[in-house]
Amino acid sequence: MTDREMLIGMARETAQLAYAKYSGFRVGAALRCADGTIYAGFNIENRSLGLTVCAERTALFNALTARRSQFTDIAVVGIDSDYPLPPCGACRQVLSEFLESQTPVHFAGTDKEIKTVRLGDLLPYDSLHELKPKR
Ligand code: THU
Repeated sequence: MTDREMLIGMARETAQLAYAKYSGFRVGAALRCADGTIYAGFNIENRSLGLTVCAERTALFNALTARRSQFTDIAVVGIDSDYPLPPCGACRQVLSEFLESQTPVHFAGTDKEIKTVRLGDLLPYDSLHELKPKR
């Protein structure tokens, strides 16, 4: 099994735990850190639908909370999706705050196909990319 398949497997397993009562659309994500640790997350919906948090952001926030700051790649799996499920637009923006633009993003759905695209290719012409945080 490749590293990519392992990360996808972890995202797929995590998706089973999703709190997706309203859409029935379960998503899992697994974020690998430079030190080899992996943080997983699933989508967490809310009856006030706009408050839903996607799997990718849950995984990222778990890693950030654990004081991780360097990331090598991320996997996203929609286990109710018949096509490979890439991060939504909002998650592309949030991921771009903490992951380098060359970071590989792997994504899959119910079948075996796995796609890998760099984050920067998912978010071209990144708005405000020159706006650096004030230290
Ligand atoms: N969702 C994710 O968790 N990640 C994505 O990249 C796409 C969408 C979730 C949000 C919501 O709970 C459900 O999928 C349907 O939009």
